[in-house]
Amino acid sequence: MVEILFTGDDLALGAFAGMPPVQATARWRQPYRESSEVIQQSTKLYIYEVKGFIKDCRSIKIRGYLGNWPEPPYNYLFFLEPVKDDLRDWLSKQENLELTNEFSIDYGDWQQVVRRKHRVGRFVILPGFTESLGPCDLDDESLVYLYITPCLVFGSGLHPTTSGCLAAIDHLYSVDAPETATDIGTGTGILAIACAKCGTKNVVAYDINPLAVECAKDNVRRNKVNDTVTVKEGDGISNLERSELLCFNLDEKSFRRLIERIDLREFRWSIISGMLEKRFERIAHLLPSDLKIWWKQVNKGWITICVQGQE
Ligand SMILES: C[S@@+](CC[C@H](N)C(=O)[O-])C[C@H]1O[C@@H](n2cnc3c(N)ncnc32)[C@H](O)[C@@H]1O
Repeated sequence: MVEILFTGDDLALGAFAGMPPVQATARWRQPYRESSEVIQQSTKLYIYEVKGFIKDCRSIKIRGYLGNWPEPPYNYLFFLEPVKDDLRDWLSKQENLELTNEFSIDYGDWQQVVRRKHRVGRFVILPGFTESLGPCDLDDESLVYLYITPCLVFGSGLHPTTSGCLAAIDHLYSVDAPETATDIGTGTGILAIACAKCGTKNVVAYDINPLAVECAKDNVRRNKVNDTVTVKEGDGISNLERSELLCFNLDEKSFRRLIERIDLREFRWSIISGMLEKRFERIAHLLPSDLKIWWKQVNKGWITICVQGQE
């Protein structure tokens, strides 16, 4: 019997809320790949901060290892049990790696997973498995179902920035039908999957974190949009190809980099989120002045906008 995880109002976000960056994302390794089946709200996570470059995270063969969230120059290694001694032992055989900090936190204190279903416009977000959901209006053709298993990765759908982007996608696809879309910082892949399920034929999703890429690929498969969505590891900003729709739910630093390198006027639509309104107001002047803000939502202080570029 699958135990469904808790839900709540606010997702604690590493990069966004000043919490340790470990909270941003990571991926469960086997046998915890379908983490929702084994991880419960009260499950303790043991997180070790290691300074230095880990060449191959898969070489970490320590019991309870779940995944790594690299945040250079640090790594945040997630475990299901305390393994400090074993980790020290492993580190002693590696070059230039140093244990710099450790944390322990309940899974439920930092990650939210949709327990039953969560609705944003036409989107219904469901856990990646449905057997214990009970009666569900899965055959309502006016709705779009997104099966998302976030594991440790950002993008369960509950955070105001993610739901803001989904609301923007919902509005946008009621007036237009972009044929191509790019999602920079895809996390679980939720926005890319939403675009694909709304009819976009070619969606490219990027994430710099290989663990997020794996999670997004899993969710893409789960939603049967593999023919439409391509998930790529990398900084979408450096090699960005043109598309009709650009989505990015990124932190302020990445937003600044993106604005410096990419002319948003070249995209018919851009959906932008990832910042508190107050912070966004301070840097909104970086956007081209002739870009039209077509849609805007502020949810719990987080702003999402949809801007219109070329007709
Ligand atoms: C806030 S999460 C957004 C996840 C998902 N798109 C959503 O809306 O819930 C940001 C993601 O962007 C990734 N990221 C940050 N900077 C990036 C960049 N320059 N290129 C690609 N991915 C990036 C992070 O690894 C993280 O998974």
